[in-house]
Amino acid sequence: MKVLRTLPELRQWRAQQAAQGHSVGFVPTMGALHSGHLQLVAASRQACDATVVSIFVNPTQFAPHEDFGKYPRTYEADALALQTAGADALFYPDMEMMYPPGGEIEIRVPRTGALYEGITRPHFFHGVALVVTKLFNLVQPTKAFFGQKDYQQTVVIRRMVADLFMPLEVVVCPTVREADGLAMSSRNRYLSPEQRASAAGLYQTLLAVANAAQPGASGETLTQAGLAKLAQYPDLKLDYLAVAHPLTLEPIGSFDPETGAVALLAVFLGATRLIDNLVLPFRLAE
Ligand code: PAF
Repeated sequence: MKVLRTLPELRQWRAQQAAQGHSVGFVPTMGALHSGHLQLVAASRQACDATVVSIFVNPTQFAPHEDFGKYPRTYEADALALQTAGADALFYPDMEMMYPPGGEIEIRVPRTGALYEGITRPHFFHGVALVVTKLFNLVQPTKAFFGQKDYQQTVVIRRMVADLFMPLEVVVCPTVREADGLAMSSRNRYLSPEQRASAAGLYQTLLAVANAAQPGASGETLTQAGLAKLAQYPDLKLDYLAVAHPLTLEPIGSFDPETGAVALLAVFLGATRLIDNLVLPFRLAE
């Protein structure tokens, strides 16, 4: 696996792929890799001739009070895991490269980016849209792979790609879960053993929403079913639970299985904020 740190190194690697007629799959990450990331690498390897993974903890998607400083940085373990998973290249830029002094461009996805995550974390999608645009311009991938775990992020990125005519395909891969249903996340490592046990309540809450998703049931009924389950986990403090249209993310009036919906959940568990979602109607393979 080639480790690319500078713009010339990346450009040279990308030009070699183009010269060989290779399609390039791209998995953007912030490191602290887990099986969910490695599934994205596997999906990319299956779909594309060459796979490049980026590791960059992006400062612009964190507010000053958030966990940018303590976000886990596990480069050695990540590089080894990527090598074992068969990634062809690791793009590992530094801050100077991604945000050269004097940069002032902004990328906004003002409607879908302002909902849900955008209410609690107003800066978040500005930072994601900016860094993902930069990464797409740098890597010029044929396909880019994201996890369904960050459902709203995938909607925002798809919107951005469509609106800006970015010449790539966004591929969304299923959420990878622990045995008790907890969605894999780099932030799970912040949890104490007791918190880790309570964290299973996110999935149980979403399952309660899914079980209530009968044709014609109101969005409010689905939300209330989830909230009743969440109340059984007193450590989990609700940020939001929404049942939304799968593409526009607007809250649904009533559930139509043809259109489908997505149940979006964010909770605080001590100082850690966790998010998860289920696409409805829910099928267990998800
Ligand atoms: O999902 C993430 O890990 C990040 O938001 C991303 C897409 C790598 C941008 O920093």
